[in-house]
Amino acid sequence: MKEDVHFDAAPLLGAVPSTLLIPLVARARGSSIYPWLDPCDTQAQQMLQNMEEQALALLQDHPSVLNVLWRTQLIKKIGTAFFAHYPQAHGINLGAGLSDYFQWFNNGHNRWLDVDLEDVVTLRHALLRCHSEAAHDGSLDLTQPGWWQRLPLNDIDKHQPLLLVCEGVLMYLTPTQVKAVMREIGENAPEGSELVCDFMTPLGIGHADLVPSVAGTGAEFLWGARNALDVAHLHPRLELLSQHTLAEAYGWVSCWTEMCMTPWTGGPMYGVAHLQLSEP
Ligand SMILES: C[S@@+](CC[C@H](N)C(=O)[O-])C[C@H]1O[C@@H](n2cnc3c(N)ncnc32)[C@H](O)[C@@H]1O
Repeated sequence: MKEDVHFDAAPLLGAVPSTLLIPLVARARGSSIYPWLDPCDTQAQQMLQNMEEQALALLQDHPSVLNVLWRTQLIKKIGTAFFAHYPQAHGINLGAGLSDYFQWFNNGHNRWLDVDLEDVVTLRHALLRCHSEAAHDGSLDLTQPGWWQRLPLNDIDKHQPLLLVCEGVLMYLTPTQVKAVMREIGENAPEGSELVCDFMTPLGIGHADLVPSVAGTGAEFLWGARNALDVAHLHPRLELLSQHTLAEAYGWVSCWTEMCMTPWTGGPMYGVAHLQLSEP
């Protein structure tokens, strides 16, 4: 990390990109509230050394901190299993923000690509310590048609399955944009690739004001899915491997309550879909 760069850079970002601070603070400091979910994210901790108190106030939104730590733990588990199966594969984080999953997934044979909007990639370069030659990043707008072809994946084996992560991103896109993102993935990802993405209930659309850490950013929730099967139905090549609900992190009473409400809600309040790309 460069010494002279402070988090004053973050307010220069737009509404949705500035939400990257929420998972960053959660991964760096959230273990003080939820020690059993500590991801041991040394990259996030280092970045926070230069951070203002204002950003640390995000820690007061406990539900969001729990949300991020829970999904991080889950994605670490899914990614670790994926690279155990495909040790030489590539992983791509779509809308990576300042997250760094490769600190956990690097096995000396695999490779990693973090993509986000240009301003965010500039911030990554300024703040994030590069720890591996096998990790790269690139600027990309997921709402621009044809973005897959612009992924810097020159030396990639086009038949090797990929691990695709997209967390904390899709809910800020419109339903049409989310469908288009899934179409890009569906039309391009090799067979056997896996996609992990989160989703929130459609009941949350338009209610970013109810989430304290998002409310101050000016970002809004524009897309939701009732359940992971609805996410899988966004493209014919997407097959559902598993659905996970945040209620798991609150214990069996929450899981039971959520299950009882399913006839009305259609699924979790917030969940993670683990999907696989079938043959083209
Ligand atoms: C809440 S942050 C999540 C960051 C990261 N995935 C994490 O969990 O730490 C949302 C991220 O989505 C990115 N994003 C939003 N719209 C995007 C787009 N059209 N193309 C690429 N990235 C986008 C933002 O720049 C921001 O980094």
